Amino acid sequence: MELFNGGTVDFGNGNLCINCHQSRPYEVPVIGSDSTAITSSRWGTHHGPQSALVFGLGGFEIAGSESYPEQGSGHASVIADGCITCHMAEAFGNSAGGHTFNMTYQYHGGTEPNVVSCTVCHAGAEDFNLNGSQDEILALLHELEDLLIQEGVLNPNSGLWNTGTYPTNVAGAALNYRFIEEDRSLGVHNYKYAKALLTNAIEAIQ
Ligand code: HEC
Ligand code: HEC
Ligand code: HEC
Repeated sequence: MELFNGGTVDFGNGNLCINCHQSRPYEVPVIGSDSTAITSSRWGTHHGPQSALVFGLGGFEIAGSESYPEQGSGHASVIADGCITCHMAEAFGNSAGGHTFNMTYQYHGGTEPNVVSCTVCHAGAEDFNLNGSQDEILALLHELEDLLIQEGVLNPNSGLWNTGTYPTNVAGAALNYRFIEEDRSLGVHNYKYAKALLTNAIEAIQ
């Protein structure tokens, strides 16, 4: 399976999902260039960048204190059928897993995680927030969001971009923010890549 910007991935039976769950094509700002134009309020990644994140490509890979994992490492290398191993794990009734693709279900008024697939490898996992990793990614997203608002690129009311020409590191940081936000797994898909994209983007514009 080809991903839009040069990655060839094989997620086995999960290849079906990749057809739709990848972003429409976009250009990653060129690292080292002075400025980059944000040409539309919806510039950058769009709905469904999950495949690129699982595989570890498509972000603005500015250097910083976190190193980027190799493409195809982490979950992409150990979970042969990619998406479906987690999302179609043994069903919890008709609420999660199976053909719902849902990772969570409602139970007694609360949202419960379906950790059936996780516990195969992460013994004893009770939720998706392993070692606080989702909290950490959420905190980084908030920190970057505040910086992008200060830089004038993110409109805090609409959540969309203010079009214009920005220093390339600001545009690249904006791309990384949208990528991880739209992915919606808070780093579960590829914790190392998500953490590096956010951390290094924050450092680059601080
Ligand atoms: C024909 C296109 C298509 C295919 C194939 C497809 N999806 Fe989706 N999926 C969508 C669209 C469109 C949405 C709604 C937009 C969104 O939430 O990103 C969606 C939503 C989802 C959601 C979020 C549901 C929610 O409640 O918000 C999950 C999880 C999901 N898909 C997983 C999968 C998995 C796993 C596969 C492969 C087994 C798959 N999808 C295959 C198009 C597709
Ligand atoms: C390691 C297991 C795992 C793999 C592999 C995986 N996902 Fe996920 N995915 C999750 C978890 C867990 C969440 C939800 C996190 C949460 O709700 O806190 C999630 C969230 C999502 C969402 C957002 C759902 C929503 O309700 O907002 C979509 C869409 C999605 N995944 C699609 C995919 C696709 C497509 C693939 C394959 C390219 C994939 N996932 C691979 C575990 C996985
Ligand atoms: C087939 C085995 C396998 C499955 C299934 C699996 N994982 Fe993982 N997971 C791994 C491995 C191996 C790593 C370490 C990857 C690395 O460091 O390169 C990892 C790393 C992680 C990380 C990064 C944090 C850390 O401490 O390194 C998170 C978060 C995570 N997994 C969550 C989940 C969740 C949530 C599920 C279920 C929805 C899941 N995983 C399913 C094997 C798996």
